[in-house]
This record gives sequence, C-alpha cells and structure tokens, in this order.
Amino acid sequence: MDITPYMPGKSSLINHQTIIKLSSNEGALGPSPNAIKAYLRAANSLHRYPDGGSNDLREAIGARHGLDASRIVCGAGSDEVLYLLGRSFAGPGDEIVFHEHAFIVYRLIALGIGATPVKAPEVNLTANVDSILNAVSERTRMVFIANPNNPTGSYISADELNRLRAGLREDILLVVDSAYAEYIARNDYSAGAELVDAGVNTVMTRTFSKAYALGGVRLGWAYCPHGVADVLNRVRGPFNVSLPAQAAGVAALEDVSFLAMSRDHNSAWLPWLSEQIRTTELTVYPSVANFVLVEFPNDAGHDAIAAIAFLNDRGIIPRETTSHGLPGCIRITIGTEAENRAIATALSEFMS
Ligand SMILES: Cc1ncc(COP(=O)(O)O)c(C=O)c1O
Repeated sequence: MDITPYMPGKSSLINHQTIIKLSSNEGALGPSPNAIKAYLRAANSLHRYPDGGSNDLREAIGARHGLDASRIVCGAGSDEVLYLLGRSFAGPGDEIVFHEHAFIVYRLIALGIGATPVKAPEVNLTANVDSILNAVSERTRMVFIANPNNPTGSYISADELNRLRAGLREDILLVVDSAYAEYIARNDYSAGAELVDAGVNTVMTRTFSKAYALGGVRLGWAYCPHGVADVLNRVRGPFNVSLPAQAAGVAALEDVSFLAMSRDHNSAWLPWLSEQIRTTELTVYPSVANFVLVEFPNDAGHDAIAAIAFLNDRGIIPRETTSHGLPGCIRITIGTEAENRAIATALSEFMS
C-alpha cells in the first residue's frame, strides 16, 4: 500500500476536442508506415498465439545493433523487462539503488517486490556516480540508472558509466535503462551494450516506445549476460510479446530512413524549443532526449501549476513532475513543428 499507482501523462482535456499531447515522450512523427502496414497484416493472424521466443524480432534487433540475439529478451514495453529484472534478482530485505530523480518506475518495482528503494542524490539534476556508489550497502542487489534520464533529460558519459560498473561489487546487477538512446548524437555516450558484453553483471534495456513511436503496442527488450537472459526467460510469461507488436517491431527496425527522420526531427526541434522557452526567462535544463524539463518561478501567478492550467486552457498537455519530486517544473515532449510552435507561443504569452 506504499505504492502510489503510476500516473501516466494526461491524454485528454474536458472542453477540448483536439489536443496537443506532449505529456508522454511519444515519438513526434508517429510510427513508421512500414510498421503500421505490418501491424495491419498481423490482424489476419490474431487467432494465433505469437512466437513465444520473439525469434524474428530478436534476430532483427541483434542484426541492427550488432548484438548476440540469444542474449536479447523481449517484453511488453521495457517496463515489463524492468519489472522482470526486479522480480528475478531482488526481494524482501534487499536494497535497490537509483538516482534521486530517476525514472519513477524503479521505485515501484522495488516496493512491489518488498525491497527497499534507496535514492542517491544527483548533482545538477544529473546522476552522480560517487553518490550512487556511496548509497550502496551490503544489502544492495541492484542499481538502476536511466541514461538519459526521464524527466531530467540529463545523461552520464560512457566513461562515467564504466566507472560506476567498476565501483560496484560483481554480485550487484547494474541495469542501464537506455530508453532514449536512439535520439542521442554525442560521441561520449554509450547505451551500455559494451558493458553487457564485458560480462560483468550488467543489463541494457531499450524500448520501441520513443524514437520508434510504438508505445501503443508495448515493446521493449533487454540485452543481458547469458545467465540473466536464462533467468528472464524462465520467469517471463510464455507469450509476453503480442503478435502484432513483434510484426510492427521487425518492420520498424527495417525502416532505417524513418528512424533517421525521427532523429533529425528531434535534433532540430529540441534545441529550437529549448531556446524559445529560454527567451521567456524560464529555466530549461539541458536535454539529450525527446523532451525538456522546464522550471518555473515560485510566484503564484507564474508557477508550474499555473503554467499547466494555462496550457491546458489552450488544449496543450505537458507533464507535471510533482510525482518525480520536481514540483516547480513541467516536462514537455518534443512534438511536431506545429505543436512545438504552439507551446512556445503559449509559454511566451504565459510569462508575459
Ligand atoms: C527512462 C525510461 N525507461 C523506461 C520507460 C518505459 O518505456 P516502455 O515501457 O514504453 O518501453 C520509459 C517511459 O517513459 C522511460 O522514460
């Protein structure tokens, strides 16, 4: 009963037929047309159970990313994979460490399995390796890091990630949640696959919900050491990834140019929106993902609550971040050009 149920980003507003939904970090351009076609084709086989091993999908992921497909485990969203990891490797009496404003689900996972969530302070809203290492005790079984993190948009470099792994005991499972990896164009970034291959008790999780814009079908995956993949395959449901999700996922991976377009769109509009909002004197935290975290002043007319009400009145839905421990902020997903322009204009009106 300590669990506050996860509150998804709002998706409708009373009195508004058309809305601009920028509350769930969904891919701005929607899914690849190829993925939609594959999904529709799969409709003819809905009476069939899916392939329980997601074999074509795992092969396609492995080929696209140069990974060993036998160590990929797919799930109904990366959420499922993260929950499976928690259930498999920690339990009552154990501690699970993550950073202060880390993706909210890690805490729910810990509480759900009777483990103790332990938060490591961040520095400048960024995960801090020393602070995570300091938070580790002899009861720690797992460490989660969202890289980059939601809702802050910050990331740590590959060197820092390696330093984190090197500082952890070998019996502590490090889970590197790289849900937004496709968006990042930094040469000091690693999604974590090399650490998994190095064989030191590290798992990388990924999703089709963000850059591939397939959040509605629920599709994610983990790249694991052999032993971890083996455990997940024992613990997961036998048909945990639906047939249309597998088909859409394979087609999405094949559509390389669509992914490039999604990435380019984000690389253009993320700095644009950040700059536009900064001109209104609001603080915009640097982000490498497909959203920005915006901090509002503390006065009643211009605080985050007033901003959300103002935007909602105009049919725009950002994400509140009070539940993330950031009550003075809101999170805004990068949308289409029209959506980005609309929210930039609305925020400028709000501040003036
Ligand atoms: C950091 C992070 N990890 C994991 C997820 C879960 O994504 P999904 O379950 O849709 O794959 C999200 C979704 O918002 C996220 O922001």
